[in-house]
Amino acid sequence: PFPQYERMRAMAPVFQDSQSGSWHVFRYEDVQRVLSEHATFSSRMGGDNPSGTGQLFAASLITTDPPRHRQLRSLVTQAFTPKAVDALAPRIAGLTNELLDGIAAGGSADLIRDLAYPLPVIVISELLGIPAEDRERFKHWSDVIVSQTRTAPAGETQDTTTSEMVEYFLALIDRRRSRPGTDLISSLLSAEIGGQRLTVPELLGFCSLLLVAGNETTTNLIGNAVLCLAESPGTLGRLLEEPGLLPQALEEVLRFRSPVQSMYRVAVAETVLSGQRVPAGAPIVAWIGSANRDGQQFPAAAEFDIDRSPNRHLAFGHGIHFCLGAPLARLEARIALEALLTRLPGLSLAPGAELERMESSIVYGLKELPVTWQRA
Ligand code: HEM
Repeated sequence: PFPQYERMRAMAPVFQDSQSGSWHVFRYEDVQRVLSEHATFSSRMGGDNPSGTGQLFAASLITTDPPRHRQLRSLVTQAFTPKAVDALAPRIAGLTNELLDGIAAGGSADLIRDLAYPLPVIVISELLGIPAEDRERFKHWSDVIVSQTRTAPAGETQDTTTSEMVEYFLALIDRRRSRPGTDLISSLLSAEIGGQRLTVPELLGFCSLLLVAGNETTTNLIGNAVLCLAESPGTLGRLLEEPGLLPQALEEVLRFRSPVQSMYRVAVAETVLSGQRVPAGAPIVAWIGSANRDGQQFPAAAEFDIDRSPNRHLAFGHGIHFCLGAPLARLEARIALEALLTRLPGLSLAPGAELERMESSIVYGLKELPVTWQRA
């Protein structure tokens, strides 16, 4: 998509698609405004009737505006603190190593299937306190729910899966209410602000949001990172010598191959973006993937450069909706990449592998990532 973004930034930076009526926004400055000026650009789901998973999110963080958004967000940040996330590091490292134990001796693997996909799903399910024996079911639901973008088990509709999952979460919430544990659902149940607690629909919305917002995206960050490094052997070599550079390298991956390429808003009032008048009620698509390649903001934007500084990419959004899971995503990706670099020496793309991207204009990542390395 990147050459097309470049053309749009130059020739039609704020463009109305006559078929859908949506306004597409491509420049860094405009994308940043659309994401963060919440009084003008609303996150509420459009006027259409959301169904299935859409309905679940009607009461969720990512689809509400202030003042409700502020209340919801402060309730969940009580539970989702950086400290709670950091405490997961040893467990994430343990899981990563278990997954790599399964493949290390083989000398080749599909890193999406064998590491980048399962890792975030297991981490989220543990965070939510899903009992280990239910993890397969949980993973299956999350497969179906993200199936717009990855492989869908044939014949299963999103709506059936959604109602199964909702039933499961309702029962789990009930159990946690009578017997609280140390999991996220238990702390969400007891979180309180001004005497207010989350309602059950809000809790459900939040659990489902974590599934959808947190899994596919983290999978793609890990996959995209391996791809960026495989394409840049010099960088790979530097990271092997100096693993301390990994966090800044991952920020550059987030910019260069952003796992989320676009986000939606609705203009609540008439406004002007890059000199173009946009009417009240306009549905807007903010192209994060384009903003992150904008030469006005990033010198040599088309180059992958882990020394880039500053690197104010918009991969996690900007402003009040800034990704709640960013610390977790960064932690998982760092641990996964560290383990890959140390345990799979000579890691490179499988010769002759054809890399296919997922067919989605929102999520950016590979379907499969066949790699090889030297066996021990
Ligand atoms: C919001 C990207 C991982 C949970 C967002 C937004 C972006 C984003 C762009 C802003 C949405 C907006 O402005 O409307 C990403 C990327 C990830 C990632 C690129 C991985 C590399 C995660 C993870 C979790 C998560 C691991 C949870 C475990 C959320 C939530 C929101 C959010 C709850 C809504 C925040 C709000 O509306 O206040 N994410 N995300 N994300 N993300 Fe992430």
